[in-house]
Amino acid sequence: MAEKFFKYVIVGGGVAAGYAAREFVKLGLKSGELAIISKEAVAPYERPALSKAYLFPEGAARLPGFHVCVGIGGERQLPEWYSEKGIELILSTEVVKAEIASKTLTTAEGTTFKYDTLIIATGSTVIKLSDFGVQGADAKGIFYLREIAEADALVSAIQSKPEGTAVIVGGGYIGLELAAVLRINKYKVKMVYPEPWCMPRLFTADIAAFYEGYYRGKGVEIIKGTVATGFVTDEHENVKIVKLKDGRELEADIVVVGVGGRPLTGLFKGQLEEEKGGIKTDGFFKTSVPDVYAVGDVATFPMKIYGDIRRVEHVDHARKSAAQAVQAIKAKEEGKSFEEYDYLPYFYSRSFDLSWQFYGDNVGEAIIFGDNNPATPKAKFGSYWIKDGRVVGVFLENGTPEENKAIAKVARLKPLVESKEELIKDGLAFASKI
Ligand code: FDA
Ligand code: NAD
Repeated sequence: MAEKFFKYVIVGGGVAAGYAAREFVKLGLKSGELAIISKEAVAPYERPALSKAYLFPEGAARLPGFHVCVGIGGERQLPEWYSEKGIELILSTEVVKAEIASKTLTTAEGTTFKYDTLIIATGSTVIKLSDFGVQGADAKGIFYLREIAEADALVSAIQSKPEGTAVIVGGGYIGLELAAVLRINKYKVKMVYPEPWCMPRLFTADIAAFYEGYYRGKGVEIIKGTVATGFVTDEHENVKIVKLKDGRELEADIVVVGVGGRPLTGLFKGQLEEEKGGIKTDGFFKTSVPDVYAVGDVATFPMKIYGDIRRVEHVDHARKSAAQAVQAIKAKEEGKSFEEYDYLPYFYSRSFDLSWQFYGDNVGEAIIFGDNNPATPKAKFGSYWIKDGRVVGVFLENGTPEENKAIAKVARLKPLVESKEELIKDGLAFASKI
């Protein structure tokens, strides 16, 4: 069995891996020092494209167009980029065993990798309906979306049943983005989710009312307060009907499920400290074991601004945590001190011609400002979250780049609110004045 040694090994070849490679190169990397081992068949790419432009009926995004780091306007790292920099990019290769004590990784083919420093960037996997024991959940025509191979399978299904019927299970990020893109593909779309409103992890009832109204206006049927309990298939084992807990049955040519993600930490169970479902790190993304770092979706890290520890499943943090870990590794090697991660949460989504951004923390009391009537063309509205008399989180639909910069500044500075009524009246003008 082959054995290879690298000074640095990154397990996982997604967003965080790509941005970590960029940072290594920026700070000085010798040829042959870094290997990236990825289960996927393609070089790291900007994963958010998969639920948006990748699924457009016309002018769809395709690789190599969206390899990292185009998401921040950086250099597009094609496969050749890695070879030119002397980085070994090992694709279609799954690490199946990690022995932290002996600094050894083993792949499915039986190759072993030894390293000085390990960066864990394995990201998340989807939660499946079969995990809840939903009957018939393995039928053909039921799709999940995490990796490009799954997006390709979905594209073929959409093309093979033009203007068909889709049922979307889940009212979170995937649910909302996929419902929109399937409507753009002229599908009849029904969304099903258990909560009283969509995206309850972030949206208030007022925010959700806008998006639900807008989606209905685009022809999406929304069914709330129930879940899928089973699927009926045709004679070819293709999904035909989605059975709901409330007794309803929905016809479907395809089903897309987005009921949440789960961080991929299994390789390291019992070897690294975990917290909140992720691998526990310090503010440099160092785990409980020296020379082992964890970044992106899998890391549970100190959120300095709020004095607690959290895991974040969004692309901005994947990029920034990767850069932070590499900078910390390099600073340690050079005996230099380095600043702790001081992250301001930033989430965004785009669907139809809508686009929102959120910065900060969605805790405390929320107030809404602006025009949140879904019938208004290009409606602009937002929300402030107020805790202990300060604005701690801001949401804005349809902001300009300057306005989005202003709301980020508010969330970072947490200004005092003198009068709630004034804040509602001032709306976005409050942020622009900070
Ligand atoms: P990521 O999932 O990117 O990469 C992990 C990689 O590790 C994968 O390539 C995987 O195959 C590989 N891997 C795992 N286990 C392995 C093993 N044992 N051996 C080898 N390789 C292994 N966020 C946002 O802020 N805005 C957005 O619009 C979107 N949109 C979006 C759309 C879709 C469809 C998804 C699935 C996710 C988003 N996100 C998002 C979330 C964002 O993409 C996510 O937070 C980052 O991709 C996380 O980056 P990581 O590198 O941690 O994981
Ligand atoms: P999510 O956590 O955003 O949403 C999960 C949703 O599943 C819940 O809101 C709920 O409505 C629904 N749900 C839970 N159990 C259910 C059940 N039994 N039946 C029906 N619905 C049920 O997760 P997601 O949308 O699956 O996204 C997966 C991952 O991808 C997350 O990490 C997310 O952050 C990431 N992602 C992010 C973006 C973005 O930031 N714009 C876009 C796409 C995906």
